[in-house]
Amino acid sequence: MPVITFAHHKGGTGKTTACLNIGGFLKKTGKKVLIIDCDPQANATSGLGIEPGTADHDIYDVFMSGTEGFERVPLKSAIIRGADVPDLCPASLDLAGAEPYLYEREDHVSILHDAVGPITRRYDVVLIDTPPSMGQFLINGLVAADHTVITMDTGPFALQGIESLRTIFSDISENTGVTVVPAMAIITRGKVLREEMTPGAAVMDGLRRLIGISGRNDQERTRFLEIMAALEHEFPLACAIPYDPLVPEAQKRGIPISECGRESPAASEYARIAEIVGGWK
Ligand SMILES: Nc1ncnc2c1ncn2[C@@H]1O[C@H](COP(=O)(O)OP(=O)(O)OP(=O)(O)O)[C@@H](O)[C@H]1O
Ligand SMILES: [Mg+2]
Repeated sequence: MPVITFAHHKGGTGKTTACLNIGGFLKKTGKKVLIIDCDPQANATSGLGIEPGTADHDIYDVFMSGTEGFERVPLKSAIIRGADVPDLCPASLDLAGAEPYLYEREDHVSILHDAVGPITRRYDVVLIDTPPSMGQFLINGLVAADHTVITMDTGPFALQGIESLRTIFSDISENTGVTVVPAMAIITRGKVLREEMTPGAAVMDGLRRLIGISGRNDQERTRFLEIMAALEHEFPLACAIPYDPLVPEAQKRGIPISECGRESPAASEYARIAEIVGGWK
């Protein structure tokens, strides 16, 4: 059962959107999917139609299990079953209050990894959504992951983001012995609709086309070229999700776009990515 973590310490790069929609399409292909919301913002929770803070238990209790004076809550007790959508371990704002306690624990980087262990036989795939920070929840998500998916934008600071990620990954490796090798980069709202997704080169073609057709100024063109070079160097697989109004519409309705019942540019790209991810071990 692969555990896949969506990560980028920068906000709004499409982590939650990728997690929900890849999860939605994986579920549609008949897989048993669990989404773990590891972000106090609880957007993955709302995105699956669950009001944060209303569940008996959530990921806060899972993180606090093992801390002196707190109830033991295994991950399986905090899971909400989805009928047509992935199962969910929800989050709520409470999670933010767990972080200071975690630093006191010797096992603080592997709490999530250890919590996921006992449920491996129940699921075909587990997806973890992480917050836009470099704190304990991101680190726990990365340590628990078999595969890490980086989501990114094409904004002016995108490249600095890649640099910081490299630093975070090497710090994790130094401190925990766990090597984080990103399996895929997803560029979100890149206004590129690619006909086919193949490792490496295809997204570069997409971005090159984007530069070619959009008449961008020199500075922007240079930035895109730099992003391309960095992606080519950094990630084995990269893909682009175009801007699509169905994305926020589905999130408002509390369902993945796979459940919206209509074709859309982002839906077809996420479906394609889910096909690839579905083959990961
Ligand atoms: N392809 C898309 N088309 C249109 N809007 C999109 C698309 N992808 C994401 N968005 C919107 O962009 C915003 C940010 O996306 P999302 O919440 O997935 O990012 P995030 O990385 O999880 O953010 P955070 O770091 O705050 O957790 C959301 O409002 C989402 O609806
Ligand atoms: Mg998010």
